[in-house]
Amino acid sequence: MNINATGCSLIDNLYSLVDFSSPGYRRWSAESGMKNGLNTGGLVFGEDLEESSGIPYNELLNQITGGKIRPEQNIGGPAVVAAIHMSQVLPRDGFSIGFYGCRGEDELGSLLEEKLKNFNMDISGYMTAEGKTPFTDVFSDPSYNNSNGERTFVNYIGAAGEIRGRDLPGTFFDADMLIFGGTALTPGLHDDLGYLLARAKAGNKITCVNTVYDFRNQKQNPSGQWPLVDSDDRFHLIDLLIADNEEAIKISGRNDKYSAAAWFEEKGVRSVIITHGSESIECCSDGHFFTEKGHFSMPVSEEAGRKMKTAPEDKADTTGCGDNFAGGVYASLASQLAGGNPSLREAVSFGAAAGGFAGLYCGGVFFEKYKGEKEEHLKPLIAAYKKQQGVEL
Ligand SMILES: Nc1ncnc2c1ncn2[C@@H]1O[C@H](COP(=O)(O)OP(=O)(O)OP(=O)(O)O)[C@@H](O)[C@H]1O
Ligand SMILES: [Mg+2]
Repeated sequence: MNINATGCSLIDNLYSLVDFSSPGYRRWSAESGMKNGLNTGGLVFGEDLEESSGIPYNELLNQITGGKIRPEQNIGGPAVVAAIHMSQVLPRDGFSIGFYGCRGEDELGSLLEEKLKNFNMDISGYMTAEGKTPFTDVFSDPSYNNSNGERTFVNYIGAAGEIRGRDLPGTFFDADMLIFGGTALTPGLHDDLGYLLARAKAGNKITCVNTVYDFRNQKQNPSGQWPLVDSDDRFHLIDLLIADNEEAIKISGRNDKYSAAAWFEEKGVRSVIITHGSESIECCSDGHFFTEKGHFSMPVSEEAGRKMKTAPEDKADTTGCGDNFAGGVYASLASQLAGGNPSLREAVSFGAAAGGFAGLYCGGVFFEKYKGEKEEHLKPLIAAYKKQQGVEL
């Protein structure tokens, strides 16, 4: 089984202990009247900040952080984090995973590539383009708001904005299963998603899409729906769609995950999973791709939830729960496909374990000390999850 993934892959730079009341932060914040300024608790694009300030981002960063904080750097992005999860839990024998991303020719790009070499993924399709390697800067001020703490994000699309659907090499389409993850943060791919799905389906490939918050479309049209494919008759080209509650609501224009799932079903998406943090996971399947037919809800992992509550704050966070959830679903799907018709319930069980486990360590990617380490952590969570649902093991 060959799996190829593309979409959002970047470096997360975590700057802890940024003082949101410092002049350097306040000067570039929206609260001080800066157009496209830092949105405390939210995200802005680095490119927009540069444009409205007229100052290169590196200089702004120096002022915001005081220039003295060394960031902790991790791999992030819904496509690459899901692909890495698959590379960790799927056996090397019989499964190969390729990742097609885009980086700039800069230090951060070399760092990203170095880090990606730690995983059993083929990154020969990783492209280079003009501009910076995409990154998200996360500024954290634990003393903000009476010590409740807050985080502010800047996403720099950079080189990831240069790649169009048509730039993806033909080899991308050679795999059995094609994954498009977080393409809203790779705008050129996102705008071509309909075309990419059509090309994949013309070759009879399995198509999976996992979404990310679409800041670009939200900014352009705050009260409107977010576009996903360019025409309604292309929704049926998606075999499996994974979105979180907010994304599903914004794409569908409906009010909750239940009616959002129904909307996707009406549009022809074969199967849908809507995650909702610690709340239930809404699923729906038309019976063509997965064996189940109809709508059903599944719980999150109680065991992981319990452990999350007692995990020390500096050792665990919920970053990447959604991305690992998707990776868990995809990995289960890939292994099930080897043996016949896949079950959506089974795939969601693996997603719930992987998503829950991501809340028990820092960042989205778990760095294994040896092959199989993550799987060892997941096994008891999967068993507990099945028990929670009353499944006989
Ligand atoms: N508190 C929790 N307890 C148990 N499982 C959780 C909890 N929070 C998240 N998860 C698992 O992770 C899945 C995805 O979470 P969520 O819906 O928050 O994704 P998301 O919004 O895409 O997150 P992110 O984009 O920050 O990674 C949930 O469906 C669940 O399986
Ligand atoms: Mg997410």
